[in-house]
Amino acid sequence: MYVHAFGGLYLFTNSIISCGGKMLDNMYQNVISNKLFSFFVCFLAALAGLLFGLDIGVIAGALPFITTEFHVTIHQQEWIVSSMMLGAAIGAISNGWMSKFLGRKNSLIAGALLFVSGSIFCAQSTTPQMLIVSRLIVGLAVGIASYTTPLYLSEIASENIRGSMISLYQLMITIGILVAYISDTAFSVNGNWRYMLGIITIPALILLISVCFLPKSPRWLAAKGYFDDAKRILDRLRESTDQAKNELTEIRESLKLKQSGWMLFKSNCNFRRAVLLGMLLQIMQQFTGMNIIMYYSPKLFEIAGFATVTQKMIGTIIVGVVNVFATFIAIGVVDRLGRRPLLMLGFLIMSIAMFALATILHIGVHTTLDKYLAVAMLLIFIGGFGMSAGPLIWVLCSEIQPLKGRDFGLTVSTSTNWIANLVVGGSFLTLLNKLGNANTFWLYSILNLIFVLLTLLLIPETSNISLEHIERNLMSGNKLRDIGSRK
Ligand code: BGC
Repeated sequence: MYVHAFGGLYLFTNSIISCGGKMLDNMYQNVISNKLFSFFVCFLAALAGLLFGLDIGVIAGALPFITTEFHVTIHQQEWIVSSMMLGAAIGAISNGWMSKFLGRKNSLIAGALLFVSGSIFCAQSTTPQMLIVSRLIVGLAVGIASYTTPLYLSEIASENIRGSMISLYQLMITIGILVAYISDTAFSVNGNWRYMLGIITIPALILLISVCFLPKSPRWLAAKGYFDDAKRILDRLRESTDQAKNELTEIRESLKLKQSGWMLFKSNCNFRRAVLLGMLLQIMQQFTGMNIIMYYSPKLFEIAGFATVTQKMIGTIIVGVVNVFATFIAIGVVDRLGRRPLLMLGFLIMSIAMFALATILHIGVHTTLDKYLAVAMLLIFIGGFGMSAGPLIWVLCSEIQPLKGRDFGLTVSTSTNWIANLVVGGSFLTLLNKLGNANTFWLYSILNLIFVLLTLLLIPETSNISLEHIERNLMSGNKLRDIGSRK
């Protein structure tokens, strides 16, 4: 049955891909301006973030019902949750070659196909083992999406809207998480975990169709020697043909670098700095502690004194809503205020909120006011993340790598994200046990304070400057903090 389903899906996809480009061409010529076209393309690509978010968010609500139906052990439960993260790390690592050789668009199509098949398999799972494998497949898709989408967006968007377009991807992640919380709540009435996991097939199919309509990345086309095609796409995306021409000239310049990928990493210390910076950025994002709230929010509400099922459910949805709204702040100001001020402000807010939360827990949650204060700190923390590290780390990681090393650099930084994600998620309960509630949150408060300093010392400002200009600054040995300088 699955073979037939795949055959049908393949034929369906192929015909969509071939007519997708033509339809989009017509639409472009007849209906919408270049600016709108460019935004539309970014929006379609950013839909991959929605699936990423849905698959992160869905499991918390489904797990109790899965546990009851399959009588799974604690160990199996951990595997059902973390197999997705493992799949994502594998997906991100292996996607480097796919996106380099087959291109960004085809990688996204492969990711979307895995999202569709993984969701179907999850819903059809008859044993815990099958569910673990299905979640691993979904994880592969998440890994591909988290690697390719920011990369594609950075190569498609023009420099004055690049920050907000990549932040759009993070917005989709947060919307996905929120929708998953809401849908879990709705399906929990009859306890049907198969619907919770299976319903994701619908947005996955929408993503699959949408990505077939995307143009190929002009930078990838140029790197493969298809300069005419790259020019044609840039002409459609940019506001004037002059702008497109200048951009292509800059891309040609950056392609003069002889080595690429691993060879470039071995031989060029400037590129090594960019790769290490990408890793540091992702470690900073994960060690803010955001995912302990994403994965354990019901437990945190319990610690804060809201222990009933309804309270935990409402609390979790509020967490999702704040995360979405805070991301709008980043989208609105990232290209005007810049990356560095927003990041520093965000880390500072998170540090203060974690500090206050730890202090409240240390003194003890005795009154109703204490309970609400603890929750308010949790929400302020999420606001701080949503307006800064959430979107901006993805923005920066896709901007700082030179064209010839972009695939390699992003493979390393994206897999670092997933490995750090596993470490933070996997160590939280142990930390609570060993250090106690207050000390654990104090620890995260100190880490966020350190990140303010690291941003001040090391992180470049990359708004309103072309990727090629950043690359020239990096490769001529400028300090990391200065690679976004216009001089
Ligand atoms: C992070 C995820 C996190 C999500 C929350 C993403 O940018 O990479 O680890 O769960 O934001 O909104």
